[in-house]
Amino acid sequence: MGQARQATRLSRVAGRCEVCGAETPKWVGRCPECGEWGSVIEVEVSRAPAGRVGSLAASSPGAARPVPIAEVDSLGARRLPTGLAEVDRVLGGGLVAGSVTLVGGEPGIGKSTLLLQVLGAMAAGGVRSLLVSAEESAEQVRLRADRLGALDDGLFVVSETSLPYALGHIDAISPDLVVVDSIQTIFDPDAPGAPGSVGQVRDCTQTLVRVAKERFIATVLVGHVTKDGQLAGPRTLEHIVDTVLQFEGERHHALRLLRALKHRFGPTDDLGLFEMTAAGLQGVSDASALLLTDRCIGQPGSVVAPVLDGARPMLVEVQALVGESSHAVMPRRSAQAFDNGRLAMLTAVLQRRLGVELAGRDVFASIAGGVRIDETGADLALVLAIASATRGLAVAAHTVALGEVGLGGEVRSVPQAPRRLAEAARLGFRVAIVPRSTPEVAGLRLVRVCAVAEAMEHLFPTDLPATNRAQVRELPDDKMRGDH
Ligand code: TYD
Ligand code: MG
Repeated sequence: MGQARQATRLSRVAGRCEVCGAETPKWVGRCPECGEWGSVIEVEVSRAPAGRVGSLAASSPGAARPVPIAEVDSLGARRLPTGLAEVDRVLGGGLVAGSVTLVGGEPGIGKSTLLLQVLGAMAAGGVRSLLVSAEESAEQVRLRADRLGALDDGLFVVSETSLPYALGHIDAISPDLVVVDSIQTIFDPDAPGAPGSVGQVRDCTQTLVRVAKERFIATVLVGHVTKDGQLAGPRTLEHIVDTVLQFEGERHHALRLLRALKHRFGPTDDLGLFEMTAAGLQGVSDASALLLTDRCIGQPGSVVAPVLDGARPMLVEVQALVGESSHAVMPRRSAQAFDNGRLAMLTAVLQRRLGVELAGRDVFASIAGGVRIDETGADLALVLAIASATRGLAVAAHTVALGEVGLGGEVRSVPQAPRRLAEAARLGFRVAIVPRSTPEVAGLRLVRVCAVAEAMEHLFPTDLPATNRAQVRELPDDKMRGDH
């Protein structure tokens, strides 16, 4: 503190944007980074005392000393498992002592629930835990803890919005784990700006990071995200903390996804899955089984695709519905849970390359179950679902389709096909329509195709008389298209 005071005497005035956190050499009316008007405030910037810059003698006794890398303490050894397998999966084993994790997500998605469960489980495992609740009263937290079974003697709760008081509580309790819910509602009266402003959020985070490192406390900060998915607060927040997790899901679905956007102590590609139930969040170890539970077998317009989210393979049901449009000139192309542009492109490929009649018809497509697809591995399944819907022919229930579809109607390979297909085999699928280069997979019969046309020929042979086609959906499972 004393040092900081000294430094401000040697300061100059600069500008800082309250919206994006960008810094400017002087005050300006409009932020050069985000373009916002009137968002730049004057701040004092400390300057290193003259003569010290560039001096090799700058390091004082007691400051960090370079050591051979192998002698550096490995932080990984001090991971605290959270007691929730799906959270540990994303964190690579648990929270690291002295690290700061930011958990972002839209209001109401379940952040407080998830963290109360983590606190309860960790306290039950002997980790002294403190929840600083800056949004809910201790009574509200208690009510929820009752429901979640998070009533352990090692879990302390305080309803507190003032940062200095919160630090006092940390001092008094001496916890190994602190959760601050949320960082936007905690307030430091000594820092400039209104509660929740960019400056406040950043200053409070910086203080909590310092305390976490000094006291060796695993610290978790909850942060709300704005509608466009940005963490409210400056982007710089993501640089200050060690780990950034995102908790997401479709509001009308029970499925919740936890992923790491940044992680200083492990990989960021694993995905945690939960189901929101009346008794809180339940880890989902078998995502594919959950996503396929309500599948309507034997319906035209449904094809299963083995997709990949980060490192986690999942089977999803791709659904399509095709119908007469009331807009002859501009029929609708509406995609849910994946990119609309991709749907428009794939319908164009079906029309132009494969002669599927979609002019004047609306095409709706979605992924069942509440996951979003951000990759091209489900292209072939989508194209086949649309073709299946158009023709009124179901695809066999035990068939999956994998592959990216190009503008020429060609089927291209996608990363990690064996892992995806192994997941399909595990769930009992028997046939996979795949790109030509795909290697064999135990338990699956592969139908290798170069183009969508070949896949369609396999599923909907043109020599089948029209009268028989209508009957296909009535056939028992193993007699349906795709099984020959
Ligand atoms: P919450 O954790 O308060 O969300 P956040 O902190 O991200 O704003 O969760 C809110 C929703 O979760 C709320 O709509 C009710 C639901 N919920 C359940 O369905 N089951 C439960 O056991 C709990 C505690 C909450
Ligand atoms: Mg909350």
